[in-house]
Amino acid sequence: MKRVLALLLFSLPPLAGAGGFVDLRDAPVVAGDAAAGAAKVAVCVACHGAEGNAAVTAFPALAAQHPGYLYQSLAGFRRRADPASPMTPQVQSLGDADLRDIAVYFASRRRSAPAVSSAADLPGARLFRDGDAARGIVPCQGCHGATAQGHPLHGTAPRYDYYPALAAQSADYLAARLRRYRDDGQVDTSNALIMRGIARNLDDAAIAELAAWLAATPRESTSTSGDYP
Ligand code: HEC
Ligand code: HEC
Repeated sequence: MKRVLALLLFSLPPLAGAGGFVDLRDAPVVAGDAAAGAAKVAVCVACHGAEGNAAVTAFPALAAQHPGYLYQSLAGFRRRADPASPMTPQVQSLGDADLRDIAVYFASRRRSAPAVSSAADLPGARLFRDGDAARGIVPCQGCHGATAQGHPLHGTAPRYDYYPALAAQSADYLAARLRRYRDDGQVDTSNALIMRGIARNLDDAAIAELAAWLAATPRESTSTSGDYP
């Protein structure tokens, strides 16, 4: 896996936007105040649902997502200020401490159980676990964990907190996100660069299979950061 990573990082040119390129390989722990965050999300839950469990599938669930990933995602929306993203006006007036508090708050919320349950023999389950060498698809579990809860080394170093859990996320959102990694040139962090290299080899059928399995896989716990040994 280390070799795949090195290859990806060196073979693709960083395509940074106006805000520059952010290297997350030595990213620090994201700490914040969950109670303060709870008071700052009234506008967010209109789209992302109560406690970050979205009712509309176009909106990603945020509950129980890792705080590092949530924080860098919000910081990215603010940095890029892309007029096409519905998130741009949401983050423009928020400061760095607000983003941290909000990230820690949503991370501490429980993710709702999937509406349908996952079947271990779904094609998406095999693709996620084993990849498909013939199509150049690497196993997703190497970075997202066997049951898509986050990086297998999560909890051992802060940077793995910046790898998202994918379990119990909306299939529509996951598919749209994967197509965006594949088709968009916009890559402004080392982590997005990794995911762009992965998504390049995913066709629409593979994306649909992976998204269906992930949406049906339960998220097992909430997430905190700052408790590294
Ligand atoms: C008008 C609806 C709307 C509101 C209000 C809204 N969002 Fe979003 N949010 C979206 C959509 C749509 C996306 C996915 C599209 C995208 O990535 O550009 C998204 C994406 C995100 C993501 C990325 C999730 C991931 O898995 O990568 C985070 C984090 C997020 N929103 C947090 C927030 C927070 C915090 C607030 C409140 C300050 C908020 N959102 C308010 C619609 C909204
Ligand atoms: C080499 C490590 C690595 C592998 C292998 C990998 N990913 Fe990722 N993935 C990441 C990282 C790092 C991010 C965070 C990217 C960012 O911050 O934009 C990510 C982000 C994602 C996201 C965005 C989640 C969200 O909430 O917006 C999806 C979806 C995803 N990966 C799916 C997959 C699938 C499906 C596979 C297998 C085909 C896969 N990944 C394989 C490292 C990896």
